[in-house]
Order: sequence, then C-alpha cells, then structure tokens
Amino acid sequence: MLRQKIDNKSAVIGIIGLGYVGLPLACSFARKGFKVIGIDRKRSRVNSVNRGESYIQDTSSSELRNLTRKGMIRTSTDYKDLKNCDVVQICVPTPVTENKVPDISYIVATSKKLSSILHPDELVILKSTTFPLTTKEVVLPILEGSGLKVGKDLFLAFSPERVDPGNKKYTVGNTPVVVGGVGETSTELAYLLYKKVVGNVHKVSSTEAAELTKLLENTFRNVNIALLNEFAMMTDRMGINIWEVIDAAKTKPFGFMPFYPGPGVGGHCIPIDPYYLSWKAKEYDFHTDFIELSAETNEGMPYYVANLVISTLSNTGVCPKDAKLHILGVTFKRDVGDMRDSPSLKIIEILKNKVSRITYSDPFINTLTLKDCTYKAVALNEKILKESDCSLIITDHSSFDYKFIVKKARLIIDTRNATKMVKEGRKKIVLLGCGIPLNGL
Ligand SMILES: NC(=O)c1ccc[n+]([C@@H]2O[C@H](COP(=O)([O-])OP(=O)(O)OC[C@H]3O[C@@H](n4cnc5c(N)ncnc54)[C@H](O)[C@@H]3O)[C@@H](O)[C@H]2O)c1
Repeated sequence: MLRQKIDNKSAVIGIIGLGYVGLPLACSFARKGFKVIGIDRKRSRVNSVNRGESYIQDTSSSELRNLTRKGMIRTSTDYKDLKNCDVVQICVPTPVTENKVPDISYIVATSKKLSSILHPDELVILKSTTFPLTTKEVVLPILEGSGLKVGKDLFLAFSPERVDPGNKKYTVGNTPVVVGGVGETSTELAYLLYKKVVGNVHKVSSTEAAELTKLLENTFRNVNIALLNEFAMMTDRMGINIWEVIDAAKTKPFGFMPFYPGPGVGGHCIPIDPYYLSWKAKEYDFHTDFIELSAETNEGMPYYVANLVISTLSNTGVCPKDAKLHILGVTFKRDVGDMRDSPSLKIIEILKNKVSRITYSDPFINTLTLKDCTYKAVALNEKILKESDCSLIITDHSSFDYKFIVKKARLIIDTRNATKMVKEGRKKIVLLGCGIPLNGL
C-alpha cells in the first residue's frame, strides 16, 4: 500500500522541524506533487509558513505562498495533525552542549510524541545529523513503544541531509540523497520516496552506514579547513602568500581539492558534527585524533585573528585600547544570514574589552546579541571606514564593494582574501596567511 502511495504521490508527507532543512524539504516534496504537513514547536514559524512568508533565505516567499494556497503545504504545532501522514521526516536540531557532548534530546522528544500517533504501514525517516546507531538504538525502541514492529508494520530509515544554505547550484532538489533503512523494505521505501523528488539516490546497507556517511563528509571538511588554517599560520611566519599557493595547487586536475583558511568555522554542521563522532568513538575505546586536532586548530582561529588585530594596530602605532574597530560581515559564511556558531561572535567577545569601540556592517544581520551586550549594524559608508582605525573582514559577502572599502579604509585585515581583485591600496591590507608585517605598514 505504502509503496503504491509513494509511487502515485498520494502519500502524505509529514515533516517535523521547519528550519534550514525542514522548510526547503517541505517545498521540494510539495513542488513534486506530494501533500505536506509541517510541524514545528514554534508557533511563529507555523504561522509564517501558513501565511506564505518564508524566514529561510533559500525558500522564496512567492513559491511558499503558491504552495500553501494550493493546499500542498499545511503547518501546525500539534503532532495530532500528523495522524494521516504516510511518511514522516524528522528534521530537528542536534546541537552539542557547552562541553561538546551530543545533545539528542530533540530527537528523543520528537520520537516520543510521534510514537503516540503512529499507524501501521508508515515510514519514518530521521534526517537530523547524529552519531551512528541513533536510529536503531534510540529512535527504534521509542517508536516500537507504540506496539508497532519496525520492519513488519512500521518502516524506519536514516537519510542524511546535505543542504548547503546559499548554494544556488546544488539545492535539496538536485543534491544526491543517501538512504539506509532498518531492513531491506525500509531502505527500499525510502529509496522510492527520494527517487520521486531528487532522482539520484544511493542506498547503503544500514542506518548506521547512512549516519556515518554524513559525519565523514563533515569531518572531511573540518579536517581540510583546519589543515589550511595551519598552513596560513605557518605562511604568516614564512611570508609566503597561501592564497597564491592554493590557486597554483588547484591547477592539478587530480588528487587535490581546494580548501581555504579563514577566521574559524561556524554554522550548525562543521563545528558540531565531528563531536558527535568523537563522542561515540570513545564507547569503542577509540580516539579520533584528527577530529580533536582539527577542532583545536579551527577553534583557535578566532583567537589568532583577534591577536592579529591587536598586533597590527600596535605595529601601525595605534594603541589598541584607543582603537575603533569596524567588522565587515558577521554571519558564518558568505551571502547567508545564519549567525549560528559564527567565528565573529568569538572574535567580538575576545576584543570587546581590548579596543575602545566595535561596530559592524552586515546586510543580513540588523542586530547582534552577545552574552551581555547588543550591537546594531551600521551602514557601510566612507564615514565609518575613515573613522575606524581598522576594518576587519570576517565574512566576504558578495554585496560589499571591496574597491571602495580598500580606498576609504585606513587599515584592512582580510581573513578571506575578499580583496583579491583590488589592485590599488594593497599596502593598507593585511591578508591572513601572507606574512604578518611586523615592521609596520
Ligand atoms: N542547517 C544546515 O545547513 C544543515 C545541513 C545539513 C544537515 N543539518 C542537520 O539537520 C538538522 C536540523 O538542522 P536545521 O539547521 O534545520 O535546524 P533549525 O534550528 O534551523 O530548525 C529546526 C527546527 O526544529 C524545530 N523543533 C525543535 N524541536 C522540535 C520539536 N520537538 N517538535 C517540532 N519542531 C521542533 C525548531 O523550532 C526549528 O524550527 C540538524 O541535525 C542539523 O545538523 C543542517
């Protein structure tokens, strides 16, 4: 029955958690003709979707309005509205605690609520990134508390989400999907489902293989970024331009893939996911040294950049205590309005009592709230650049006019090579990974 419903698109799709992952996913299923019921515990999000107002950058309000008007997407805060769903996908957060321990409480809470409304012939897919065996050892027993048996009257799979916010080329609609189920029928049903929306679906033999796939992908990124951050700190001493070296290395058509240094890593994936793996590995007396080392390097970058600001100010004869610092870009990555775990937060935290004033410009963020203070974005104009002793580029948004910035700013620290195309005024620029000019500019 379920197979048939998926095939003729009469299966009703439930999505729990309407954030960066859940909302675009809801749209991609609705776009392909599936009726979608979205659940979120935040009433404001549910109301926004029902009004057709998107709060996620990659989901357009006009498309959302179109889909809600046609009745293809309906949302609610009440899990009872999932009662008639044939498939439910869980897209809730999986953060780490302050001590970097995985917090799967959202998955547990969602699974418990779901178990009270499950019916036979239903498929549940966990999309939240998590450590291997969560689906089998945590979600499965909770769902079976309903009296239904997984593999017999209920089907369960894990499928990692690969959405890359801000990526125009690869979206949820065209990025290949990996699926692994508890048993062959679960895998097959999840495979058929994603085939309907994405086309390119790759099966693995178990939920734990699918869970580990996501952690391998993000650990790979984390380790490679850390490697380039280490190179940048080394080339700062050697006086060699790391960006030129990466450009040269990437002309090799095989065996090399470019990664870039920067002020640190952020977002809900790269700084968090590897900790899920290192935590689980300890259960097997295994220490994931690469993960620990790359975390140490990447988490050290905001401190390195803060030190770079202080030492550069001193070298140019400005007493840091009296200096005005202007930050360009505070989100965790270019052209994305996501502040989660952004390195800018750490850099501001370190510098706020070491310089006399910090201001920032970011087209995506109007207000920035730290533990004990709030900053309001200021317009990026000649006045702010001229009156600031140092302009620090943390996020290289494409809407910034870098030629104008270099022309008007007194001193620029560029952590992203955002000013690479600017030919004039380069003496004012201190570029991360190119040799710290210890003898003044
Ligand atoms: N953001 C990304 O780029 C990305 C990419 C790939 C994978 N992931 C993974 O996907 C998962 C979700 O991430 P996200 O970025 O979409 O998070 P998010 O915070 O943007 O969205 C999660 C949503 O779940 C809702 N929620 C929390 N608990 C709930 C509950 N009990 N019932 C109903 N709704 C609930 C929240 O209100 C929120 O709207 C995480 O595991 C993350 O690691 C994220």
